[in-house]
This record gives sequence, C-alpha cells and structure tokens, in this order.
Amino acid sequence: MKTIVFVGAFDPPHLEHSRLTKFVIDKLGAKRLVIVPTHCPPHKSGGFLSFEDRVALSKLAFEGCADEVVIDTIEYDRAAAGYEHNYSSEVLPLLKEKYGEIVYLIGGDSLEHFHTWHKPEEVASACPIAVVGREGYDDIEEKIAQVTEKFGGEFIPIDFEGSSVSSSEIKAMLLLGEKPEGVADEVYKHIIDNHLADKYKPWLEKLKTYQSDELYNHTKNVVLRAVHLNSAHNLKQDFEKVFKAAVLHDNAKERPSLDGLVIPEDSIDTPVMHQFLGAKKAERDFGVTDKDVLDAILVHTTACKDMTVLQKLIYTADSTSYDRMYDPIPKLRETGDEDFEEGFKAVLQYTYDKLLKKGNPIYPLTLEAVKCYL
Ligand SMILES: [Fe+2]
Ligand SMILES: [Fe+2]
Repeated sequence: MKTIVFVGAFDPPHLEHSRLTKFVIDKLGAKRLVIVPTHCPPHKSGGFLSFEDRVALSKLAFEGCADEVVIDTIEYDRAAAGYEHNYSSEVLPLLKEKYGEIVYLIGGDSLEHFHTWHKPEEVASACPIAVVGREGYDDIEEKIAQVTEKFGGEFIPIDFEGSSVSSSEIKAMLLLGEKPEGVADEVYKHIIDNHLADKYKPWLEKLKTYQSDELYNHTKNVVLRAVHLNSAHNLKQDFEKVFKAAVLHDNAKERPSLDGLVIPEDSIDTPVMHQFLGAKKAERDFGVTDKDVLDAILVHTTACKDMTVLQKLIYTADSTSYDRMYDPIPKLRETGDEDFEEGFKAVLQYTYDKLLKKGNPIYPLTLEAVKCYL
C-alpha cells in the first residue's frame, strides 16, 4: 500500500498541514498517511505542546486525510530506548520495513539544505522523496537535478500552492486566548478543553487590570506583529522571549507610580518613562528575570545604539503593530514586511522626524540610535 510519511513538529498541527497531505496523497495515489511527530529532548525543546499532546492533536488534525492514517511515535520510542538522534537515514529504513512502499514528504526548503543532512546518500536511497515547492522555491526541478546528481535517489516535485501559515503565529494567538484561523475546530477545542494554551493566562489577567481596553488591544497586536516579523524574516529569536517582551512592553504605560523603583531622572514624567519603569515592573510584578526580555522592554520607545535583534524586533513591532492604521504606519509596516533592517530604520527615521517637527525634546538614547543607524 503506497504510504506517505510526513515528519514534523506539529506544534500544533494546522489546516495547511492537512491540506498539503491531502494534495500529495491524491497526486501520488497513496492510500496511507503516516504522521511522525518529532521528538526533541526536553532540555532543548523550546516547544509549545508536549509530545503526547502533539500526538493527540495530530490524530484530530489528519483524520480523514487518507484511507488509513497512522500517528507513529517512532521518534519518541527510539529516544526512550536510548537513541540520541532520529536521523532520517536511520528512521526511514525502519518505517519502510514497517509500512512497505513509502514516500517521504519534505518541503522545498529542506532540499536546499539536503547536503547538510546526516548521510544524505542513505536518505536518498531509502525511499522516493516528494518535494513540495513553496513560495520562493520555483526552481525546484533544477534543485532536484542537482541533488540527484550528487546523492542519487528519486525525488518527486509537488507543485502545491500553499498559503504561508506560521505555526508560531498560531501559537501566539492561542496563548493570547484568541482562536486562530488556520486551525481545525476539533484541534482548537482539544487545546481549550485541556488547557494547553493557558501558560500566560495569569499574566494576561494581570495586564488587563493594568491596561485600558485600547492599550490591551495594542499589546496583543504588538505580540502578533513581533511573532510575525520573527518568523517571516527568520530572525531566529526564541519564541518565549519575543512573546514575553512584546506582551509586557507597555505594562507600566498606564501606571506611572515610581513605587521607589529607580529609573533615569531625566525620563521621569516624559513619554519615554514607561519603558524604564516597564522593565522594572516586568521584573517586580511578573517575575521576569531574563535580561534579554527586560532589555527589549527597556528601549522599546527610545531605541538606542548597538541594539540586539530582539530589541529591534520589539521596537519595530511596537510602531508597526496592526492596531495602528493611521498614516504613515501602513507604509512602514510594508517596509518592515519586505526587509526587517530597513523596516527598523524606517521606524526610527519616522519617529525622529516626528519629534523634530513637533519640537519635542529628543531623549539622548534616541539621538545615539539615530547616529548609529541613520
Ligand atoms: Fe510603549
Ligand atoms: Fe506599545
């Protein structure tokens, strides 16, 4: 029985995953779908859902995608048996033994790095590999030719017109208590019923008491914008850090009491005060100890010289969040969508020009940023 093998984190599985598998199954006339959720050692997972939850959700998400759907826990079982790695070169032959005629499904971006895989020639010879063309990978046939010449094997191009769904944006929506569009109803229900996305609920409850509805809405939009920029530009910033910094960036905006906290004298009672106070209060009221997160909150209004990627990300996301519809924000947002660095600079330029025009005093950190980047 022709079987499609699809390996992924499925953290969580979304509609684009099931749409893709259905497409490939139809195209290749396969009858069985084997879903293999990846297993990461707990110490370096950084994932959202546990392995067990990803298995349960995959069952719901892929139901009906083929005549027979199997969720195979081979990666977890091997890790439990003491194997340190789940290389495709080792796992595929085992799956072939188990299911017979298998086709391994991978994305076009994986093909790009195929030569860096562990024993690529063994992966190529294990079974046919279906390669899904995604946006930006039009020259898939050419890449297949290169890889085949080097490593042999049979690669099947799949011209699937996917829409770009980002797991991390779905994750952010869920953690914000919103229903994301790209997730099946059953998957969403399972997540809610089992409290799988409640991690930041206490923070959100607290924030709601600190923020007006308008500011809380802005906060959520900054989270979504930051997570989007991070994944769209492959900035590789840790999801948790991005989420924490974005969700807390304005935690002190509407509660300016100093409460004995020490912040720069020259910021007191100015519009930039809340960034310094925000970092202090994130630590005091939310227990944040991660310096990267606190530092991103610390300069989200002024910017500064030599910024980290996380600082630039929160700064840019704050000014181009989806709740800001007035001129020229949509244009700045577009710039940031095209190029992260240019987007950041455009925001800094815009902010600087605005301050100059209004004749407002410009905070020293902003002047340093301007000198450094513009
Ligand atoms: Fe702010
Ligand atoms: Fe903000």
